[in-house]
Amino acid sequence: MSNTKNVVVLVSGGGTNLQALIDAQKRGELGNGKITCVIASKADAYALTRAKDNGIKTRVLVRKDYDDIASYSRAMKDALIEEKADLVVYAGFMTILDETVCNAFENKMINVHPALIPSFCGKGYYGLHVHEEALKKGVKVSGATVHFVTAECDAGPIILQKAVDVLEDDTPESLQLRIMEQVEWKILPQAVKLFCDDRITVSNGKAYIKY
Ligand code: GAR
Repeated sequence: MSNTKNVVVLVSGGGTNLQALIDAQKRGELGNGKITCVIASKADAYALTRAKDNGIKTRVLVRKDYDDIASYSRAMKDALIEEKADLVVYAGFMTILDETVCNAFENKMINVHPALIPSFCGKGYYGLHVHEEALKKGVKVSGATVHFVTAECDAGPIILQKAVDVLEDDTPESLQLRIMEQVEWKILPQAVKLFCDDRITVSNGKAYIKY
């Protein structure tokens, strides 16, 4: 019996983290993971082009087509079950899903967040805003976090984190790019591989990795 795990990636925008996952898969660095479907919350997300260019199935579930988060979450849960997802990866996915999905895929959904959680996270902290806030505060290091998704935004067990220096002349854009290049595009594929190779366990709200 094959040990392969179906990885379904959720996206909303440019999809550079999706690209990092695709590139890692091509290099044989996703372990038992295989990206089987990409689901976008926006029909014009460039991430969809990246998926199609690489022969990966795509689906679009537009948030605005649903009355509320509850009905959107039910539709997403059904789609993930149809796709037989073993792991769900939020890669720049900007819509919060409710406990319907989080409970059905408990400890099977991971998110990459562009800050060192618990700093600069939670509702309203996404994309460039995160880096604007970090620069406003004058922090000397920032970074990114990969964590399990729970119903509470950005609060699930932390899997991997890595820091970068913040420079005095950083703009939100330059800090975002450094964090993407040096952290996100590395730790997200690493976390997918660790998960798909059954090396992550969760106990008392904390994630542990077997190396
Ligand atoms: C990434 O920096 C990701 O960490 C962030 O949005 C960007 C998406 O870029 N996600 C969040 O802020 C989620 N709270 P991408 O579409 O090029 O991967």
